[in-house]
Amino acid sequence: MKPIKVGLLGLGTVGTGVVRIVEGHQQDLVSQTGSPIEIAQILVQDKSKARSISVSPDKLTENPWDIIENPDIDVIVEVMGGIELAKQYMLGALERGKHIVTANKDLMAVHGAEILAKAAEKGCDVLYEASVAGGIPIIRTLVEGFSSDRITKIMGIVNGTTNYILTKMSQEGAAYADVLKEAQQLGYAESDPTSDVEGFDAARKMTILGTLGFRVNVALDDVEVKGISGVTKEDIAYGKRLGYEVKLLGIAERQDDSISISVQPTMVKQSHPLASVNGVFNAVYVYGEAVGETMFYGPGAGEMPTATSVVADLVAVVRNLNLGINGRRAFVPYKEKKLKTDEQ
Ligand code: NAP
Ligand code: HSE
Repeated sequence: MKPIKVGLLGLGTVGTGVVRIVEGHQQDLVSQTGSPIEIAQILVQDKSKARSISVSPDKLTENPWDIIENPDIDVIVEVMGGIELAKQYMLGALERGKHIVTANKDLMAVHGAEILAKAAEKGCDVLYEASVAGGIPIIRTLVEGFSSDRITKIMGIVNGTTNYILTKMSQEGAAYADVLKEAQQLGYAESDPTSDVEGFDAARKMTILGTLGFRVNVALDDVEVKGISGVTKEDIAYGKRLGYEVKLLGIAERQDDSISISVQPTMVKQSHPLASVNGVFNAVYVYGEAVGETMFYGPGAGEMPTATSVVADLVAVVRNLNLGINGRRAFVPYKEKKLKTDEQ
């Protein structure tokens, strides 16, 4: 079969992992999809930058339109981040009938409905598993695994950077600023880590989970957010003495027709399973009326876990391409509906 050609937007932490998995697992991918997957072109900001993997310089470009307007490219994998440019490139790619895989929660939380509507109009796939909880396949699980149920509560640790910081502060008495620097060096933090530490990244992820889980459009503005920048070593030590761990917890609840979503540092009883989710790990609790209580756990950030989810989406797009069913199974299982919050 002819290779499926991929245009990769971004070759940073996640993009590098995507190249490693596509190259390293090529035979497994071919056996599942029937087609070789070729990373044909890669967008970067600076072609002269040293890279931790070897890529042919001919593949690199600093001009996104070289990729978006290339008729040979079938799928765009967007792992560059940011909102406005990423949106412009995605809409440009969809306009040209290209399918998209993205890890960009900032974009999907704010403009997801518009992008998914354009994808539906053009018969294209837009998959975004890596946008929430890195290596945990939580989006697929919510949309497909719980399609039979009515979810009433989603609760989780969905930011790896802050959980890494809080864990190191709790277990080693480490200083907040030092651990944040470490999380940045490990590739966990956003390019502007304010998003992580002030809770905005977790709020965007909870917006996506709430939208998919409750099957209504949740607006980011409806999420109450408080980050961990005000949490001190003393707060953590005091909590521990009382039998609690401090965690940045996202909580989304549905009661009748009302939905409330919040992200805030929370004292979690040490006996609760969420208290022992440590380091860069994430966990998402999902309560369904029929299923009861479930929990999903795994690495929430970093090169290879995140790339695992990105490439799984890529496999799904390629399978759909070979079956000729792209755009028919979009992760947009909800109708346009105004969110009714507690205040209304
Ligand atoms: P990163 O390490 O900062 O890499 C960004 C890449 O995109 C770099 O290769 C950069 O080029 C390129 N880039 C950025 N802006 C560009 C522009 N305007 N034009 C051309 N190229 C541009 O970021 P990352 O950590 O891989 O994250 C990428 C995306 O995945 C973000 O949306 C992030 O929120 C999401 N995500 C990240 C993780 C994680 O653990 N890191 C987990 C889940 C989701 P240069 O290399 O030349 O600078
Ligand atoms: N900065 C994010 C985190 C990356 O730390 O969870 C994964 O989305």
